[in-house]
Amino acid sequence: MKLVKTIEEMRALSNTVHSRGAHLGLVPTMGALHEGHLSLVRAARDKSDTVAVSIFVNPTQFGPHEDFAKYPRNLERDCGLLEREHVDVVFAPSVEDMYPAGAVTWVTVEGMSDRLCGRSRPGHFRGVTTVVSKLFHIIEPDAAFFGQKDAAQVAIIRRMVRDLNMPVSSEVCPIIRESDGLALSSRNAYLNPNERKSALVLYRSLRRAQELFDRGERDPAKLIATGKQEFAKDSAARLDYLEIVDPDSLESISKISKRALIAVAAFVGNTRLIDNIVVDPER
Ligand code: PAF
Repeated sequence: MKLVKTIEEMRALSNTVHSRGAHLGLVPTMGALHEGHLSLVRAARDKSDTVAVSIFVNPTQFGPHEDFAKYPRNLERDCGLLEREHVDVVFAPSVEDMYPAGAVTWVTVEGMSDRLCGRSRPGHFRGVTTVVSKLFHIIEPDAAFFGQKDAAQVAIIRRMVRDLNMPVSSEVCPIIRESDGLALSSRNAYLNPNERKSALVLYRSLRRAQELFDRGERDPAKLIATGKQEFAKDSAARLDYLEIVDPDSLESISKISKRALIAVAAFVGNTRLIDNIVVDPER
C-alpha cells in the first residue's frame, strides 16, 4: 500500500492506473475509520482493480463552533486497517495543499444544500461538495463509494455529479450498526457510557416511525410525531430534526406514495449524531 501526501504524486499515480486501463475506485473519508468505512473499502475492492482511500479532515465542512480541531486523527492506525483490506493507495494531503492561500472557489448544490443537516450546519454541504469535487479532479476515480448513513450527502453528491457531468459513478453502501442498532460513526468515540445509551434514541425513533409505516400509515406528520415521542422520554438527547423527505431531492413530502427517507439528527451531550432509514410502500 502506498501512502501519498501530495496532489502531484496522486495525479501521477492515477495517470499510471488509467494508462493500464484499470478501474479505479475511491473511498473518500475523514479518517477515524470504523467498520462502516471498511464496508465501503470492501465494496470498492470487489468492484475495482485499484482502490484508493482519501483521508482528509476537511476544514470547510465544519462550522466555526464545530469539532474540526478535536476530530479524531490517527493516520497510522487508519493505514494499518487499510493495509489489511488490501487498499492500494491512501491519499492524505495537507490542508495547505488542498486549500492554498487565497482559495475562493466553491461548488454548491443550490437549494439541496440547505436541507436536513444543511439547515442546522450552514455551509456544511458546500464544504463537502467542494472537497469531493477536488478529490474527483485529483484522483479521477471511475467510481466513488459513500455510506447511506449520510443520506443527504449522498443525494447532494449525486446531484452534483449529474449536474456537472462528472465521469464518476457514485455507489452507496448500507449503514453498518452496532448489535443494539446504533449506527457506526467516528463521532461515537466522543460519547461517555451514559451518552452511548442515550444515543440509541435516534434508531428507536426511526424504528417507531417505521413500525407505524408498516401498519399502513402514510402520513409523514403522524410518523414524525410517533418518532418524536421517543425523544420526549430521553432528556439527555436534544432533537435537531426528524424529517421525511424524497431521498433524491431531499424535499419534504405530504404523503408517502413512493420511497421515502426518514432522517434524524440529534445532540447527545455535545455530540451531534445522524441516522436514517428508507421506507418503500411498494415493498
Ligand atoms: O463523509 C465524509 O466522511 C466526508 O463528508 C467526505 C465525503 C469524506 C468529505 O469530506
